Amino acid sequence: MNPPIRDWAGRRVWVIGASSGIGAALAQALLGRGARVTVSARREDALRDVVAGHPGARVAAFDLTDLSAFTQARDELCAAWGVIDLVVFSAGAYAAMRAWELDAAKIGRLIDINLTAPMAATATLIPLFLQQGGGALAFVASVAGYRGLPKAAAYGPTKAALINFAETLHLDLAPRGISVFLVNPGFVETPMTADNNFRMPALISPQQAAEEIIAGFARGGFEMHFPRRFTRWLKLLRLLPYRLYFALVRRGTGA
Ligand SMILES: NC(=O)c1ccc[n+]([C@@H]2O[C@H](COP(=O)([O-])OP(=O)(O)OC[C@H]3O[C@@H](n4cnc5c(N)ncnc54)[C@H](OP(=O)(O)O)[C@@H]3O)[C@@H](O)[C@H]2O)c1
Repeated sequence: MNPPIRDWAGRRVWVIGASSGIGAALAQALLGRGARVTVSARREDALRDVVAGHPGARVAAFDLTDLSAFTQARDELCAAWGVIDLVVFSAGAYAAMRAWELDAAKIGRLIDINLTAPMAATATLIPLFLQQGGGALAFVASVAGYRGLPKAAAYGPTKAALINFAETLHLDLAPRGISVFLVNPGFVETPMTADNNFRMPALISPQQAAEEIIAGFARGGFEMHFPRRFTRWLKLLRLLPYRLYFALVRRGTGA
């Protein structure tokens, strides 16, 4: 699989989507372990709050859907650090959408930030990692990408595709010394889930999610999914034939 990452002291980590939620908590947890961290997202003030008290941390604010802004930030980071050890893609957006609410403009925005942007950015990182002789990529997808779920008519497909992208990258890059990690969280209490008007099973804090991710890097596998008390049921559902799967999801969600 991937070589474990256990010692964070001095490790150069770029967390994209770090102005709130899971990315912010992960950046703070890594700073606490001595990593050199650059945080990115669109809101510069929020990024500065995340790294307050860590004068060595870097802030690079940009919109990930703007590829030229990303490559400029990448070049500045390479000039400052020389080498990038790990890039975490946590930027993303959610919009609840039932089948009859599908909207082309909203679908396009979700695909852009959840899928096209991390794929395009990754395309510019791989030559860099090959040249520097190693590196690691981590993609925050979602258990919503495992199979079709109610309200996820646009979000779910973006995450399913991101999972497939990470799997494909791992096949190609692991033999070339580049690690690819996949992060599939269940429900995490962040601005993204704040408007959910249903009970979120096994809800965890962003800090708990960050600790799960750090534990996943230390195990050195491929996929990190958590919390297990929730995700192991979803793993099981994933194996069921469609007739049973649809019946159980309809019963469980009231859809
Ligand atoms: N919360 C959950 O239950 C849950 C479950 C499974 C998976 N996830 C995934 O986890 C990841 C993090 O989500 P979260 O829950 O931590 O939500 P969040 O707090 O809303 O964080 C989303 C992050 O993405 C950034 N972002 C959004 N659009 C961007 C853009 N165009 N360019 C650059 N950055 C952008 C946001 O910052 P700016 O607004 O400052 O740009 C923010 O830092 C997402 O990929 C999400 O799909 C979340």
